[in-house]
Amino acid sequence: MIRDGKLVALPTETVYGLGADAKNPAAVAGIFESKRRPHFDPLIVHVENVDHARQQVSDFPEIAQRLVSAFWPGPLTLVLPKNDEIPDLVTAGLSTVGVRVPNHALIQEVIRLSGKAIAAPSANPFGHVSPTTADHVFSGLKGRIDAILDGGPCGVGLESTIISCVAEPVVLRVGGLPIEDVERVIGPVRRARADESKEDAAQPAPGMLSRHYAPARRLILAEPGELVSVDSSRAGLLTYGDHASTGSFCQIRNLGPEDDLRTCASGFFAAMRDLDATDLDVIIAHRFPPRGLGIALNDRLERAASGRVSPD
Ligand code: TXA
Ligand code: MG
Repeated sequence: MIRDGKLVALPTETVYGLGADAKNPAAVAGIFESKRRPHFDPLIVHVENVDHARQQVSDFPEIAQRLVSAFWPGPLTLVLPKNDEIPDLVTAGLSTVGVRVPNHALIQEVIRLSGKAIAAPSANPFGHVSPTTADHVFSGLKGRIDAILDGGPCGVGLESTIISCVAEPVVLRVGGLPIEDVERVIGPVRRARADESKEDAAQPAPGMLSRHYAPARRLILAEPGELVSVDSSRAGLLTYGDHASTGSFCQIRNLGPEDDLRTCASGFFAAMRDLDATDLDVIIAHRFPPRGLGIALNDRLERAASGRVSPD
């Protein structure tokens, strides 16, 4: 199906992607159409291995080599100068392309058997919560895509960490690979400011649209232990560790122990969907400790809190 230019949702270790042949502009256009994704938002290209990644780019600096030796296959996307074979639609006209080797046997096999580099954004309608199961994909995109390959729930549960290696390394999106791990390999890295422009376009920095990962319900961020008064008896709580007992809530989702943020991350988007599917007026969400995966979890919570999209 990938060879035929079809749209196939594929499991990765981070979230499900909506895949198509990256070198087929009509197929890539279909991705934007089915997600209702604006054309200024570039796609990540998924490849089989480092050699395959090199075939998509015009430069692979030494620092990129060190990163991929340490973290591929895995939840790390590198932004590098693209070569001429990548259609402009994939990169939203940028001179760079995001590439990653995903760590999931099924998408790896699809890449290998099709012989294609696969462009794939998260398999959800634009701006909505990313899918971590085949059911999530189905509920968001049914009737709009050709197939879903069910690989069970995603293990990491947060989108990849994106690092630009075009000049000095810059973190464009915090994600499933903790920054501390990155810094252990290449030393201190800068995080792009929210208002920072892309290197060659007057657009918001990628992955940084503030209204993103958004549930339909109102979401309010709170410190664990903080008593939040809400003017509703239909409030839900998204929490972790031992903070669950603060306040009165008609729905509580506890993501896992405070010292196990991996478990918290893997269930995070599913819990957000669960709470969103109930008849709550408001969701209170506890901030995570600002280290490791907690940084990416807080980032997703802040985006979810900053805007609402209406349910489909
Ligand atoms: O874990 C992931 O990264 C998942 C799985 C499916 O691989 N994909 C994903 O894709 O989260 P998406 O499209 O939801 O987010 C990709 C982000 C976008 O915000 C986009 O702006 C950024 O990557 N991006 C892609 N290419 C880029 C480029 N050339 N320069 C800067 N940012 C880029
Ligand atoms: Mg996305």
